[in-house]
Amino acid sequence: MVDLSVKYAGLDLKSPLVVSSSGLTSSVNRIKKIARAGAGAVVLKSLFEEQIEYEIGQMETGDGYPEAADYLKAYARENSVSNYLQLIRDAKDAVNIPVIASVNCYSSDEWTDFTAKMEEAGADALELNIYFIANDKHKDPREYEQAYLNIVEEVKKKVTIPVIIKLGMHFTNLSWMAEQLSIRGASGIVLFNRFYAPDINTDDFTMGASAVLSTPAEIRNSLRWVGIISSEVDKLDIAASTGVHNGLGAVKQILAGAEAVQVCSVLYRNGVEYLRNIIAELKNWMEKKQYQSISEFKGKMNYSSIKDPAIYERAQFIKYFSKLH
Ligand SMILES: Cc1cc2nc3c(=O)[nH]c(=O)nc-3n(C[C@H](O)[C@H](O)[C@H](O)COP(=O)(O)O)c2cc1C
Repeated sequence: MVDLSVKYAGLDLKSPLVVSSSGLTSSVNRIKKIARAGAGAVVLKSLFEEQIEYEIGQMETGDGYPEAADYLKAYARENSVSNYLQLIRDAKDAVNIPVIASVNCYSSDEWTDFTAKMEEAGADALELNIYFIANDKHKDPREYEQAYLNIVEEVKKKVTIPVIIKLGMHFTNLSWMAEQLSIRGASGIVLFNRFYAPDINTDDFTMGASAVLSTPAEIRNSLRWVGIISSEVDKLDIAASTGVHNGLGAVKQILAGAEAVQVCSVLYRNGVEYLRNIIAELKNWMEKKQYQSISEFKGKMNYSSIKDPAIYERAQFIKYFSKLH
């Protein structure tokens, strides 16, 4: 019998597979199914910073995006903050795996006070999904980076549960960012979020959303950085995210050094029960390779463990170009 248990961001997980924050994790019934299918933890659908600010009367409406403000107000009404606290309590009552609450945020304003209520409601950890488009040509990029650190500092003053930061993939020096987050008390990072991205309809000139769900090929985005950060930054656990659609995808991320692996799109496509297949494939691989526990192979292929670590830094296809010409 292989042992799938891992420690992630101070939490004991019975398996490294975590269902990531999304509509899949917004109902207690589905969370029960997710737990029965073998998930190690569940990250609840995110609450927006704006929802919290709105409820405490801080949300600005005349910010130049009236449609966005109207949308957020409607969203806030339907998904009120008190409903979210109830979701945390109900999920905690319903399952015996860790329940991680989640907030989409970009500032370190008053909303951060609310994180204490999430802890009171029973959340085992808090995942902060931090993002903003850095597109102000007059703003020093360092100000944008500082915003991430301010958020962690502020939230760490309000809660005692582990704080995990979910990042996008575009940083000038992700190793620096990860180290700074760790110094400020983050227990883990999720590499990476996959955000909504716009697309253009060339027939009717309307804007829409580009592919909402990921493909397995997208694992390439996080594998490099899981491999590098896991060997460069101590005391910061990693949950790999984006493009993990099968057990072997999870194996690769663990070999690269991830403590946990998050899945989302594959479950939207196949249903949450599909998690069983992913876990079975992970177990089969371990049996075939005669590993009894995850720790026996975690990080075996990370940046500092392989013979030629430069492979993690290689960005040009020189060899392949020369063959193709
Ligand atoms: C429909 C949908 C809703 C999502 N909602 C959230 C959310 O509320 N908060 C969040 O942090 N990530 C959200 N995500 C991102 C996922 O948690 C995940 O990071 C992303 O889909 C990449 O993982 P995947 O390749 O396994 O899908 C959402 C993704 C999808 C497809």
